[in-house]
Amino acid sequence: MANRFGVKLQSRLPNLAGIYPFSVPIKTPTSVPCSAETQKSRVVGKKKRRAFGCRNIHRRVLLGIGVSLWSQFLSMAGNVGSKSFMASARQKGEIEQVLKNVEWPKQFPFKDEDFQRFDESSDTLFYEMPRFVTHIDDQAISALTKYYSEVLPSRNTPGVAILDMCSSWVSHYPSGYKQERMVGMGMNEEELKRNPVLTEYVVQDLNNNPKLPYEDNTFDVITNVVSVDYLTKPLDVFKEISRVLKPGGLAIMSFSNRCFWTKAISIWTSTGNADHVMIVGSYFHYAGGFEPPQAVDISPNPGRSDPMYIVYSRKIATA
Ligand SMILES: C[S@@+](CC[C@H](N)C(=O)[O-])C[C@H]1O[C@@H](n2cnc3c(N)ncnc32)[C@H](O)[C@@H]1O
Repeated sequence: MANRFGVKLQSRLPNLAGIYPFSVPIKTPTSVPCSAETQKSRVVGKKKRRAFGCRNIHRRVLLGIGVSLWSQFLSMAGNVGSKSFMASARQKGEIEQVLKNVEWPKQFPFKDEDFQRFDESSDTLFYEMPRFVTHIDDQAISALTKYYSEVLPSRNTPGVAILDMCSSWVSHYPSGYKQERMVGMGMNEEELKRNPVLTEYVVQDLNNNPKLPYEDNTFDVITNVVSVDYLTKPLDVFKEISRVLKPGGLAIMSFSNRCFWTKAISIWTSTGNADHVMIVGSYFHYAGGFEPPQAVDISPNPGRSDPMYIVYSRKIATA
């Protein structure tokens, strides 16, 4: 049976843990849980966090988050399509069903306001200071590295080029992994300079300029770790991903339930993990040039460590 496209905007409540401040670079802010599911549980009993939660009510009013999508898709997905399916997708393994045989609407279902952020100040300012931290726990990192070891081309394959988009000082590839060309794109030069796997890097704000500075059909693989939720022009970026991938090339988006919530797009912070899978899947679908996207749940220890989800697709071989 086909899955109806439906993003369940988790009861439209303020859902942000909000445990770190917004808009100005903070000493070394790390990501906080940012899916609607995790936010609710964290807010309970934490006075400080509640206070920030109130601020988010203001945020919602301010941005009118997702109202467009909500009204559009309630009717489209219907109660069965969104409610029972997304609720059941919480179990490990069931996340993987989210992108099976989706009936995508004709038009990209999101509106401009879905891509607004609480903090609309310059991303350059936010990422000005290097953060030599990891944004997911060690188990989630190990799960991702293991996944990479299964899907990346063998190390030192002649002619292979890899792009790590939204990169930092770590790329989480298997230890000793090398290819002729390994490019990092990110926001902070100090971080990129310190990334040991990169053979080159470029600092570029994809929200200002989504055009990738590479020729068509350049890369075999493009990775993006815990950062797809910061893209405010995802379709433009995914079209570019399609353009610069070689035919048959692989794009791997991985994410958890943590984020810099002030910088994540509103449709992300107001939805849950299964919805995130659907949202990223929709980027591939509507950008065009990709095979149907697929989801993998590589969460290493559900409930005890950070979850980890992959949405991937290959550029159509004849594109
Ligand atoms: C949570 S960090 C993840 C970094 C790295 N991928 C990792 O796994 O540790 C988010 C990253 O997204 C990138 N990023 C955020 N906003 C961006 C933008 N507007 N343009 C390009 N990259 C951006 C930054 O470089 C930042 O390092």
